[in-house]
Amino acid sequence: MKRDGENRSLWQDVQMPSSKPMNEDKNYDVIIAGAGISGITAGYLLQKSGKKCLIIEADNIGFGTTGGTTAHINTFYDAQYDQVIADFGEENAQLLAQTGPEVINQIKSIIAEHHIDCEFADRDSYIFSLDKDQTKKLDDLFEATQKVGIPTERISSNPFPIPFDTIIKIKDQAQFHPTKYIEAVSEEFLKMGGTISLGKKVTEVSEKDKMVEVKTDNFTYKTQDFIWATHVIPNMNRMNFLAAPYRSYVLAFTLQSDDYPEAQGADMYEPYHYYRTQEIDGQKYIIAGGEDHKTGQEENPEERFENLENYVRQYFDVDKITHRWSSQFYTPTDGLPFIGKSPGDEHIYWATGFDGNGMTFGTLSAMMISDCIIGKANKYEKLFNPSRLNVKAGIADTLKETADAVFHLIADKFTAEKIENLEQIKNGEGKTVSLQGKTLSVYRDESGKLFAVKSSCTHMGGTIGWNKTEKSWDCPCHGARFDIEGKVLNGPATVDLEKIELPN
Ligand code: FES
Repeated sequence: MKRDGENRSLWQDVQMPSSKPMNEDKNYDVIIAGAGISGITAGYLLQKSGKKCLIIEADNIGFGTTGGTTAHINTFYDAQYDQVIADFGEENAQLLAQTGPEVINQIKSIIAEHHIDCEFADRDSYIFSLDKDQTKKLDDLFEATQKVGIPTERISSNPFPIPFDTIIKIKDQAQFHPTKYIEAVSEEFLKMGGTISLGKKVTEVSEKDKMVEVKTDNFTYKTQDFIWATHVIPNMNRMNFLAAPYRSYVLAFTLQSDDYPEAQGADMYEPYHYYRTQEIDGQKYIIAGGEDHKTGQEENPEERFENLENYVRQYFDVDKITHRWSSQFYTPTDGLPFIGKSPGDEHIYWATGFDGNGMTFGTLSAMMISDCIIGKANKYEKLFNPSRLNVKAGIADTLKETADAVFHLIADKFTAEKIENLEQIKNGEGKTVSLQGKTLSVYRDESGKLFAVKSSCTHMGGTIGWNKTEKSWDCPCHGARFDIEGKVLNGPATVDLEKIELPN
Protein backbone atom coordinates (compact mmCIF):
# COMPACT_ATOMS: atom_id res chain seq x y z
CA MET A 1 0.00 0.00 0.00
CA LYS A 2 1.05 3.60 -0.63
CA ARG A 3 1.40 6.28 2.02
CA ASP A 4 1.58 10.08 1.94
CA GLY A 5 5.38 10.10 2.00
CA GLU A 6 8.40 8.53 0.35
CA ASN A 7 9.77 6.76 3.44
CA ARG A 8 8.33 3.34 4.05
CA SER A 9 6.59 2.78 7.37
CA LEU A 10 6.47 -0.52 9.23
CA TRP A 11 2.85 -0.96 8.15
CA GLN A 12 2.98 -0.81 4.37
CA ASP A 13 3.33 -4.51 3.49
CA VAL A 14 -0.42 -4.96 3.63
CA GLN A 15 -2.50 -5.48 0.52
CA MET A 16 -5.49 -3.17 0.87
CA PRO A 17 -8.82 -3.93 -0.84
CA SER A 18 -9.27 -2.11 -4.13
CA SER A 19 -12.46 -0.29 -5.15
CA LYS A 20 -15.50 -2.41 -5.65
CA PRO A 21 -16.83 -1.79 -9.15
CA MET A 22 -19.11 1.19 -8.72
CA ASN A 23 -22.72 0.41 -9.41
CA GLU A 24 -23.37 4.04 -10.31
CA ASP A 25 -25.63 4.36 -7.30
CA LYS A 26 -25.83 8.02 -6.37
CA ASN A 27 -27.91 7.84 -3.22
CA TYR A 28 -26.68 6.71 0.16
CA ASP A 29 -27.66 6.98 3.79
CA VAL A 30 -24.13 8.00 4.78
CA ILE A 31 -21.11 9.09 2.75
CA ILE A 32 -17.72 9.27 4.41
CA ALA A 33 -14.67 11.06 2.99
CA GLY A 34 -11.42 9.38 4.06
CA ALA A 35 -10.44 5.74 4.44
CA GLY A 36 -8.20 5.83 7.49
CA ILE A 37 -9.15 4.37 10.85
CA SER A 38 -11.91 6.96 11.46
CA GLY A 39 -13.62 6.56 8.09
CA ILE A 40 -13.33 2.79 7.87
CA THR A 41 -14.54 2.25 11.45
CA ALA A 42 -17.45 4.68 10.98
CA GLY A 43 -18.42 2.92 7.74
CA TYR A 44 -18.24 -0.47 9.45
CA LEU A 45 -20.38 0.59 12.44
CA LEU A 46 -22.98 2.37 10.34
CA GLN A 47 -23.28 -0.34 7.68
CA LYS A 48 -23.69 -2.83 10.49
CA SER A 49 -26.51 -0.75 11.94
CA GLY A 50 -28.38 -1.00 8.64
CA LYS A 51 -27.25 2.18 6.89
CA LYS A 52 -26.19 2.12 3.27
CA CYS A 53 -22.69 3.62 3.25
CA LEU A 54 -20.13 4.83 0.74
CA ILE A 55 -16.53 5.60 1.68
CA ILE A 56 -14.73 7.91 -0.76
CA GLU A 57 -10.94 8.05 -0.61
CA ALA A 58 -8.60 10.13 -2.79
CA ASP A 59 -5.84 7.52 -2.70
CA ASN A 60 -5.76 4.04 -1.14
CA ILE A 61 -7.07 2.81 2.21
CA GLY A 62 -4.66 3.87 4.96
CA PHE A 63 -2.83 6.36 2.70
CA GLY A 64 -2.80 9.16 5.29
CA THR A 65 -1.86 9.17 8.96
CA THR A 66 -3.13 5.63 9.62
CA GLY A 67 -0.33 4.34 7.37
CA GLY A 68 2.24 6.34 9.34
CA THR A 69 1.00 6.07 12.93
CA THR A 70 2.84 4.29 15.72
CA ALA A 71 -0.46 2.64 16.64
CA HIS A 72 -0.65 3.22 20.37
CA ILE A 73 -4.16 2.88 21.76
CA ASN A 74 -4.06 4.85 24.98
CA THR A 75 -6.28 6.03 27.79
CA PHE A 76 -4.08 9.09 28.42
CA TYR A 77 -3.48 11.73 25.80
CA ASP A 78 -1.20 14.49 24.55
CA ALA A 79 -3.59 16.85 26.34
CA GLN A 80 -2.50 15.77 29.80
CA TYR A 81 -5.14 15.31 32.46
CA ASP A 82 -3.79 18.05 34.73
CA GLN A 83 -4.11 20.53 31.86
CA VAL A 84 -7.56 19.23 30.91
CA ILE A 85 -8.71 19.66 34.53
CA ALA A 86 -7.43 23.26 34.47
CA ASP A 87 -9.02 24.05 31.11
CA PHE A 88 -12.22 22.00 31.07
CA GLY A 89 -12.86 21.16 34.75
CA GLU A 90 -12.52 17.92 36.68
CA GLU A 91 -15.85 16.48 35.61
CA ASN A 92 -15.00 16.83 31.94
CA ALA A 93 -11.53 15.40 32.54
CA GLN A 94 -13.19 12.38 34.18
CA LEU A 95 -15.44 12.05 31.17
CA LEU A 96 -12.40 12.20 28.87
CA ALA A 97 -10.79 9.44 30.95
CA GLN A 98 -13.68 7.13 30.08
CA THR A 99 -13.03 7.37 26.34
CA GLY A 100 -9.83 5.27 26.14
CA PRO A 101 -11.20 2.13 27.85
CA GLU A 102 -14.35 2.32 25.70
CA VAL A 103 -12.26 2.56 22.54
CA ILE A 104 -10.08 -0.38 23.58
CA ASN A 105 -13.20 -2.46 24.24
CA GLN A 106 -14.67 -1.47 20.87
CA ILE A 107 -11.50 -2.46 19.01
CA LYS A 108 -11.27 -5.72 20.98
CA SER A 109 -14.85 -6.58 20.19
CA ILE A 110 -14.41 -5.98 16.43
CA ILE A 111 -11.23 -8.09 16.49
CA ALA A 112 -12.94 -10.91 18.40
CA GLU A 113 -16.08 -10.91 16.27
CA HIS A 114 -14.16 -11.24 13.01
CA HIS A 115 -11.09 -13.14 14.28
CA ILE A 116 -8.82 -10.37 13.02
CA ASP A 117 -5.12 -11.18 13.15
CA CYS A 118 -3.59 -7.74 13.73
CA GLU A 119 -1.10 -8.40 16.53
CA PHE A 120 -3.31 -6.65 19.09
CA ALA A 121 -1.74 -6.65 22.54
CA ASP A 122 -2.67 -5.30 25.96
CA ARG A 123 0.21 -3.32 27.40
CA ASP A 124 1.08 -1.08 30.33
CA SER A 125 2.64 2.28 29.65
CA TYR A 126 5.61 3.73 31.54
CA ILE A 127 6.12 7.48 31.70
CA PHE A 128 9.40 8.73 33.10
CA SER A 129 11.10 12.00 33.91
CA LEU A 130 14.79 12.67 33.46
CA ASP A 131 15.28 15.83 35.54
CA LYS A 132 13.63 17.80 38.31
CA ASP A 133 11.51 19.98 36.00
CA GLN A 134 10.17 16.92 34.24
CA THR A 135 9.56 15.24 37.60
CA LYS A 136 7.39 18.15 38.70
CA LYS A 137 5.32 17.77 35.51
CA LEU A 138 5.14 14.01 35.96
CA ASP A 139 3.96 14.45 39.56
CA ASP A 140 1.19 16.73 38.32
CA LEU A 141 0.22 14.19 35.69
CA PHE A 142 0.24 11.39 38.25
CA GLU A 143 -2.05 13.30 40.62
CA ALA A 144 -4.40 14.19 37.77
CA THR A 145 -4.66 10.57 36.56
CA GLN A 146 -5.64 9.58 40.11
CA LYS A 147 -8.33 12.28 40.16
CA VAL A 148 -9.86 11.20 36.85
CA GLY A 149 -9.76 7.49 37.64
CA ILE A 150 -7.02 6.20 35.36
CA PRO A 151 -5.25 3.27 37.08
CA THR A 152 -1.74 4.56 37.66
CA GLU A 153 1.01 3.65 40.11
CA ARG A 154 4.45 4.88 41.07
CA ILE A 155 7.12 2.26 40.47
CA SER A 156 10.89 2.03 40.74
CA SER A 157 12.15 0.41 37.57
CA ASN A 158 11.93 1.13 33.86
CA PRO A 159 11.33 -1.73 31.42
CA PHE A 160 13.19 0.40 28.85
CA PRO A 161 16.98 0.71 29.27
CA ILE A 162 16.80 4.45 29.94
CA PRO A 163 17.81 6.10 33.22
CA PHE A 164 15.12 8.16 34.93
CA ASP A 165 14.40 10.34 37.90
CA THR A 166 10.79 9.28 38.53
CA ILE A 167 8.59 6.78 36.75
CA ILE A 168 4.89 5.93 36.77
CA LYS A 169 3.01 3.01 35.25
CA ILE A 170 -0.32 3.62 33.53
CA LYS A 171 -2.14 0.33 33.22
CA ASP A 172 -4.42 -1.12 30.57
CA GLN A 173 -3.16 0.39 27.33
CA ALA A 174 -3.11 -1.40 24.00
CA GLN A 175 -1.48 -1.57 20.57
CA PHE A 176 -1.93 -3.30 17.24
CA HIS A 177 -0.83 -3.43 13.62
CA PRO A 178 -2.95 -0.57 12.25
CA THR A 179 -3.09 -1.45 8.56
CA LYS A 180 -3.76 -5.17 9.18
CA TYR A 181 -6.63 -3.99 11.37
CA ILE A 182 -8.20 -1.53 8.92
CA GLU A 183 -7.67 -3.91 6.00
CA ALA A 184 -9.75 -6.51 7.84
CA VAL A 185 -12.38 -4.00 8.96
CA SER A 186 -12.66 -2.73 5.35
CA GLU A 187 -13.24 -6.30 4.15
CA GLU A 188 -16.02 -6.72 6.72
CA PHE A 189 -17.55 -3.42 5.60
CA LEU A 190 -17.53 -4.62 1.98
CA LYS A 191 -18.98 -8.01 2.95
CA MET A 192 -21.91 -6.24 4.62
CA GLY A 193 -22.65 -4.45 1.33
CA GLY A 194 -20.74 -1.20 1.91
CA THR A 195 -19.08 0.55 -1.02
CA ILE A 196 -15.57 1.97 -1.17
CA SER A 197 -14.60 4.28 -4.00
CA LEU A 198 -10.87 4.93 -4.29
CA GLY A 199 -8.96 7.56 -6.26
CA LYS A 200 -11.82 10.02 -6.00
CA LYS A 201 -11.67 13.38 -4.25
CA VAL A 202 -14.65 15.03 -2.56
CA THR A 203 -14.66 18.58 -3.95
CA GLU A 204 -17.81 20.10 -2.49
CA VAL A 205 -20.28 19.28 0.25
CA SER A 206 -23.44 21.22 0.99
CA GLU A 207 -26.50 20.63 3.11
CA LYS A 208 -29.89 21.44 1.56
CA ASP A 209 -33.39 20.44 2.63
CA LYS A 210 -32.19 17.90 5.21
CA MET A 211 -30.05 16.15 2.58
CA VAL A 212 -26.37 16.53 1.79
CA GLU A 213 -25.08 16.95 -1.73
CA VAL A 214 -21.57 15.57 -2.20
CA LYS A 215 -19.59 16.40 -5.32
CA THR A 216 -16.51 14.65 -6.61
CA ASP A 217 -14.66 15.42 -9.84
CA ASN A 218 -17.21 13.58 -11.95
CA PHE A 219 -20.09 12.53 -9.69
CA THR A 220 -22.75 14.18 -7.56
CA TYR A 221 -24.20 12.10 -4.77
CA LYS A 222 -27.07 12.63 -2.37
CA THR A 223 -26.88 11.37 1.19
CA GLN A 224 -28.67 11.82 4.48
CA ASP A 225 -25.43 12.27 6.43
CA PHE A 226 -21.85 13.04 5.52
CA ILE A 227 -18.64 12.59 7.56
CA TRP A 228 -15.32 14.34 6.98
CA ALA A 229 -12.79 11.76 8.15
CA THR A 230 -9.87 13.46 6.41
CA HIS A 231 -8.25 15.33 9.35
CA VAL A 232 -8.47 18.65 7.55
CA ILE A 233 -11.92 19.86 6.55
CA PRO A 234 -11.41 21.38 3.09
CA ASN A 235 -12.65 24.88 2.33
CA MET A 236 -13.34 25.50 6.01
CA ASN A 237 -11.34 28.54 7.10
CA ARG A 238 -12.36 28.08 10.71
CA MET A 239 -10.28 24.88 10.69
CA ASN A 240 -7.11 26.90 10.08
CA PHE A 241 -7.50 28.38 13.56
CA LEU A 242 -8.56 25.26 15.41
CA ALA A 243 -5.80 22.75 14.75
CA ALA A 244 -2.16 23.07 13.75
CA PRO A 245 -0.28 20.53 11.59
CA TYR A 246 2.80 18.81 13.02
CA ARG A 247 5.11 16.05 11.87
CA SER A 248 6.54 13.33 14.06
CA TYR A 249 9.55 11.13 13.24
CA VAL A 250 9.70 7.39 13.80
CA LEU A 251 12.36 4.68 13.68
CA ALA A 252 11.81 0.94 13.82
CA PHE A 253 14.84 -1.13 14.73
CA THR A 254 15.94 -4.55 15.84
CA LEU A 255 18.14 -5.26 18.86
CA GLN A 256 21.32 -7.31 19.16
CA SER A 257 19.84 -8.91 22.26
CA ASP A 258 16.38 -10.37 22.62
CA ASP A 259 15.53 -7.85 25.29
CA TYR A 260 12.36 -6.34 23.81
CA PRO A 261 10.22 -4.83 26.61
CA GLU A 262 6.58 -5.85 26.51
CA ALA A 263 5.60 -2.32 27.35
CA GLN A 264 5.05 1.17 26.04
CA GLY A 265 7.17 4.07 27.24
CA ALA A 266 7.52 7.84 26.97
CA ASP A 267 9.71 10.49 28.51
CA MET A 268 8.66 14.00 29.51
CA TYR A 269 10.72 16.05 27.04
CA GLU A 270 8.85 18.55 24.88
CA PRO A 271 8.43 17.12 22.31
CA TYR A 272 8.57 13.78 24.06
CA HIS A 273 10.13 10.50 22.85
CA TYR A 274 7.96 7.41 22.80
CA TYR A 275 8.79 3.73 22.51
CA ARG A 276 7.17 0.36 22.19
CA THR A 277 7.81 -3.14 20.89
CA GLN A 278 5.95 -4.52 17.90
CA GLU A 279 6.10 -8.07 16.64
CA ILE A 280 5.21 -8.65 12.99
CA ASP A 281 5.12 -12.19 11.62
CA GLY A 282 7.55 -13.37 14.30
CA GLN A 283 10.04 -10.49 13.96
CA LYS A 284 10.29 -8.08 16.88
CA TYR A 285 11.00 -4.38 16.49
CA ILE A 286 11.35 -1.43 18.81
CA ILE A 287 9.42 1.57 17.52
CA ALA A 288 10.77 4.91 18.74
CA GLY A 289 9.37 8.31 17.84
CA GLY A 290 9.61 12.00 18.58
CA GLU A 291 11.39 15.11 17.24
CA ASP A 292 8.02 16.69 16.31
CA HIS A 293 7.84 20.06 14.57
CA LYS A 294 5.32 22.19 12.71
CA THR A 295 4.86 21.00 9.14
CA GLY A 296 7.01 22.83 6.62
CA GLN A 297 9.04 24.60 9.29
CA GLU A 298 12.11 22.38 9.42
CA GLU A 299 14.74 23.01 6.76
CA ASN A 300 16.59 19.80 7.44
CA PRO A 301 14.19 17.00 8.44
CA GLU A 302 17.05 14.54 7.91
CA GLU A 303 18.59 15.96 11.07
CA ARG A 304 15.45 14.98 13.02
CA PHE A 305 16.02 11.33 12.09
CA GLU A 306 19.69 11.67 13.03
CA ASN A 307 18.81 13.16 16.44
CA LEU A 308 16.34 10.37 17.08
CA GLU A 309 18.82 7.70 16.02
CA ASN A 310 21.58 9.17 18.20
CA TYR A 311 19.16 9.29 21.09
CA VAL A 312 18.07 5.66 20.83
CA ARG A 313 21.61 4.41 20.20
CA GLN A 314 22.64 5.88 23.56
CA TYR A 315 20.31 3.47 25.34
CA PHE A 316 19.37 0.50 23.17
CA ASP A 317 21.72 -2.16 21.74
CA VAL A 318 20.49 -1.34 18.24
CA ASP A 319 21.25 -4.00 15.67
CA LYS A 320 19.66 -2.57 12.55
CA ILE A 321 17.41 0.41 11.79
CA THR A 322 14.89 -1.29 9.52
CA HIS A 323 12.40 1.52 8.89
CA ARG A 324 12.20 5.26 9.31
CA TRP A 325 9.33 7.51 8.42
CA SER A 326 7.53 10.69 9.41
CA SER A 327 3.84 11.33 9.65
CA GLN A 328 1.42 14.22 10.02
CA PHE A 329 -0.92 14.92 12.91
CA TYR A 330 -3.09 17.87 13.93
CA THR A 331 -2.87 19.49 17.34
CA PRO A 332 -6.10 21.16 18.48
CA THR A 333 -5.57 24.60 19.95
CA ASP A 334 -7.60 23.90 23.10
CA GLY A 335 -6.22 20.37 23.54
CA LEU A 336 -9.25 18.21 22.68
CA PRO A 337 -10.35 16.84 19.30
CA PHE A 338 -13.31 18.18 17.35
CA ILE A 339 -15.84 15.38 16.86
CA GLY A 340 -19.46 15.90 15.92
CA LYS A 341 -21.70 18.13 13.84
CA SER A 342 -20.01 20.71 11.67
CA PRO A 343 -20.85 24.18 13.05
CA GLY A 344 -24.12 25.35 11.47
CA ASP A 345 -24.96 21.97 9.91
CA GLU A 346 -27.26 19.16 11.02
CA HIS A 347 -26.05 16.34 8.79
CA ILE A 348 -22.34 17.05 8.17
CA TYR A 349 -19.84 15.77 10.74
CA TRP A 350 -16.19 16.46 11.61
CA ALA A 351 -13.63 14.08 13.05
CA THR A 352 -10.37 15.96 13.48
CA GLY A 353 -7.71 17.36 15.83
CA PHE A 354 -6.57 14.00 17.21
CA ASP A 355 -3.05 15.20 18.14
CA GLY A 356 -0.74 12.19 18.64
CA ASN A 357 -3.68 9.95 19.62
CA GLY A 358 -5.09 9.12 16.22
CA MET A 359 -5.93 5.44 16.74
CA THR A 360 -7.89 6.18 19.92
CA PHE A 361 -9.66 9.34 18.81
CA GLY A 362 -10.17 7.99 15.26
CA THR A 363 -12.08 5.03 16.70
CA LEU A 364 -13.88 7.23 19.21
CA SER A 365 -15.02 9.57 16.39
CA ALA A 366 -16.47 6.63 14.50
CA MET A 367 -18.34 5.46 17.62
CA MET A 368 -19.65 8.92 18.50
CA ILE A 369 -20.71 9.97 15.01
CA SER A 370 -22.38 6.66 14.23
CA ASP A 371 -24.31 6.95 17.52
CA CYS A 372 -25.45 10.42 16.53
CA ILE A 373 -26.49 9.32 13.02
CA ILE A 374 -28.52 6.38 14.28
CA GLY A 375 -30.14 8.59 16.92
CA LYS A 376 -28.42 7.19 20.00
CA ALA A 377 -27.33 9.62 22.73
CA ASN A 378 -23.58 9.82 23.26
CA LYS A 379 -22.22 11.21 26.52
CA TYR A 380 -19.12 12.75 24.90
CA GLU A 381 -21.03 14.87 22.38
CA LYS A 382 -20.74 18.15 24.29
CA LEU A 383 -17.11 17.70 25.31
CA PHE A 384 -15.86 17.33 21.73
CA ASN A 385 -18.44 19.56 20.04
CA PRO A 386 -16.75 21.30 17.06
CA SER A 387 -18.78 24.46 17.80
CA ARG A 388 -17.31 24.88 21.29
CA LEU A 389 -15.30 27.92 22.14
CA ASN A 390 -13.08 27.36 25.14
CA VAL A 391 -11.89 30.85 25.96
CA LYS A 392 -9.70 29.59 28.80
CA ALA A 393 -7.87 26.96 26.81
CA GLY A 394 -8.00 27.82 23.16
CA ILE A 395 -7.69 31.53 22.55
CA ALA A 396 -3.98 32.07 23.24
CA ASP A 397 -2.94 29.10 21.11
CA THR A 398 -5.36 30.06 18.35
CA LEU A 399 -3.83 33.54 18.19
CA LYS A 400 -0.31 32.09 18.25
CA GLU A 401 -1.03 29.63 15.42
CA THR A 402 -2.75 32.33 13.36
CA ALA A 403 0.17 34.73 13.77
CA ASP A 404 2.57 31.96 12.80
CA ALA A 405 0.61 31.17 9.61
CA VAL A 406 0.39 34.86 8.66
CA PHE A 407 4.13 35.30 9.27
CA HIS A 408 4.94 32.44 6.90
CA LEU A 409 2.41 33.65 4.33
CA ILE A 410 4.29 36.94 4.11
CA ALA A 411 7.90 36.30 5.09
CA ASP A 412 8.47 33.16 3.00
CA LYS A 413 7.71 35.08 -0.20
CA PHE A 414 11.22 36.46 0.00
CA THR A 415 13.19 33.35 0.88
CA ALA A 416 13.58 31.73 -2.55
CA GLU A 417 17.24 31.14 -3.37
CA LYS A 418 18.36 33.03 -6.47
CA ILE A 419 19.92 30.74 -9.07
CA GLU A 420 21.35 31.47 -12.52
CA ASN A 421 20.45 28.16 -14.15
CA LEU A 422 18.90 24.78 -13.38
CA GLU A 423 22.27 23.04 -13.43
CA GLN A 424 22.65 24.44 -9.92
CA ILE A 425 20.03 21.94 -8.71
CA LYS A 426 21.92 18.73 -8.04
CA ASN A 427 20.58 15.20 -8.37
CA GLY A 428 18.34 14.37 -5.39
CA GLU A 429 17.92 18.03 -4.46
CA GLY A 430 14.69 20.03 -4.16
CA LYS A 431 14.49 23.81 -3.76
CA THR A 432 12.19 26.76 -4.08
CA VAL A 433 14.24 29.10 -6.24
CA SER A 434 14.10 32.38 -8.05
CA LEU A 435 15.19 31.96 -11.66
CA GLN A 436 15.10 34.82 -14.13
CA GLY A 437 12.69 36.73 -11.92
CA LYS A 438 10.29 33.80 -11.50
CA THR A 439 9.82 31.76 -8.33
CA LEU A 440 9.43 28.02 -8.83
CA SER A 441 9.91 24.83 -6.86
CA VAL A 442 12.21 22.37 -8.53
CA TYR A 443 13.24 18.81 -7.71
CA ARG A 444 15.86 16.86 -9.66
CA ASP A 445 15.61 13.12 -9.08
CA GLU A 446 18.56 10.77 -8.69
CA SER A 447 18.62 10.09 -12.43
CA GLY A 448 18.79 13.82 -13.21
CA LYS A 449 15.19 14.30 -14.28
CA LEU A 450 13.68 17.66 -13.32
CA PHE A 451 10.22 18.19 -11.85
CA ALA A 452 8.95 21.73 -11.34
CA VAL A 453 5.79 23.21 -9.88
CA LYS A 454 4.55 26.68 -9.01
CA SER A 455 5.72 27.62 -5.50
CA SER A 456 2.49 29.14 -4.34
CA CYS A 457 0.36 26.79 -2.20
CA THR A 458 -3.09 26.37 -3.71
CA HIS A 459 -4.71 26.82 -0.28
CA MET A 460 -3.92 30.46 0.49
CA GLY A 461 -0.70 31.18 -1.36
CA GLY A 462 1.97 30.18 1.19
CA THR A 463 5.40 29.42 -0.23
CA ILE A 464 6.11 25.70 -0.27
CA GLY A 465 9.42 24.23 0.88
CA TRP A 466 11.16 20.93 0.12
CA ASN A 467 10.82 18.03 2.54
CA LYS A 468 13.91 16.06 1.68
CA THR A 469 13.12 12.91 3.60
CA GLU A 470 9.54 12.41 2.43
CA LYS A 471 10.20 13.95 -1.01
CA SER A 472 7.27 16.31 -0.80
CA TRP A 473 6.56 20.02 -1.03
CA ASP A 474 5.25 21.17 2.36
CA CYS A 475 3.50 24.44 3.15
CA PRO A 476 4.51 26.08 6.46
CA CYS A 477 1.25 28.00 6.80
CA HIS A 478 -1.42 25.35 7.42
CA GLY A 479 0.44 22.14 6.59
CA ALA A 480 -0.72 21.26 3.06
CA ARG A 481 1.65 18.83 1.33
CA PHE A 482 2.16 17.94 -2.33
CA ASP A 483 4.14 15.25 -4.15
CA ILE A 484 6.95 16.01 -6.62
CA GLU A 485 4.44 16.47 -9.42
CA GLY A 486 2.25 18.78 -7.35
CA LYS A 487 -0.50 16.31 -6.40
CA VAL A 488 -2.13 17.05 -3.01
CA LEU A 489 -0.94 14.67 -0.27
CA ASN A 490 -2.45 16.45 2.73
CA GLY A 491 -5.05 19.22 2.97
CA PRO A 492 -6.19 21.89 3.52
CA ALA A 493 -5.24 22.42 -0.14
CA THR A 494 -7.71 20.66 -2.42
CA VAL A 495 -6.18 21.70 -5.75
CA ASP A 496 -2.91 20.30 -7.09
CA LEU A 497 0.04 22.63 -7.69
CA GLU A 498 0.42 23.76 -11.25
CA LYS A 499 3.16 21.85 -13.04
CA ILE A 500 5.84 23.74 -14.93
CA GLU A 501 7.35 21.97 -17.93
CA LEU A 502 11.13 22.23 -18.01
CA PRO A 503 13.57 20.93 -20.62
CA ASN A 504 15.05 17.65 -19.30
FE1 FES B 1 -2.59 27.27 3.85
FE2 FES B 1 -0.59 26.53 2.29
S1 FES B 1 -1.42 28.50 2.52
S2 FES B 1 -1.68 25.34 3.66
